Amino acid sequence: MQHFNIAIDGPAGAGKSTIARAAAARLGFIYVDTGAMYRAMALYVLRNHIQASGEAEIAAACQKAHITIRYEEGRQQVWLNGEDVSDQIRTEEVGNLTSQISVYLPVREKLLELQRQLAESADVIMDGRDIGTCVLPGAQAKIYLTASSRVRAERRFQELSEKGMSCDLDAIEKDIIDRDYRDMHREHAPLKQAEDAVYLDTSYLSREEVVSRVIEIARERGLKLEE
Ligand code: DC
Repeated sequence: MQHFNIAIDGPAGAGKSTIARAAAARLGFIYVDTGAMYRAMALYVLRNHIQASGEAEIAAACQKAHITIRYEEGRQQVWLNGEDVSDQIRTEEVGNLTSQISVYLPVREKLLELQRQLAESADVIMDGRDIGTCVLPGAQAKIYLTASSRVRAERRFQELSEKGMSCDLDAIEKDIIDRDYRDMHREHAPLKQAEDAVYLDTSYLSREEVVSRVIEIARERGLKLEE
């Protein structure tokens, strides 16, 4: 049976994971966060003191880092060599390193297969940078979700402040701009809008408005929902 796949791509902090998770819950789909897989690889690199510029060492590390995905009460967990690292991958340090090491082809090839297998086995909403263009070019619905760098930095600032972490808005925005540049200009699978993706700017939309629009796009692209 062919499953329905929804691909959501966009820059860091556009709200992809929040929207995809909420839409998946409403539709009964599985939410696949591909950034988490790249982050687990970056955590391995960090823990083993490998330089981000060391392409050969990172390629070798791909053979040693065993990354798997599990679902616990609908929530995705990422495991690295037998350890649940779902929380450890969420730091700014890991996020920035992830953007640096995800430029390498061996890293991308390693995770591509895992992502395609998940999409073949269930109805999924998958988010990332290259889902509509590379991972699932045949996805029935594709969305390019974005927001201005300032709005994205403000959202991140609020998130960190709520966790009691001290942070600087301008520094966060600069990190976001640098990360966007790297993700959009790398040689392999750069972030870009797929030709058949719907562009959705979330800067001035509420979470609920965006989730409803995502579901509407899926219906326009053929998703049948039981009333
Ligand atoms: O979505 P995120 O912030 O968790 O992603 C972290 C980094 O991972 C991002 O800056 C680039 C990389 N990434 C990627 O190259 N391809 C994907 N499909 C998902 C993430």
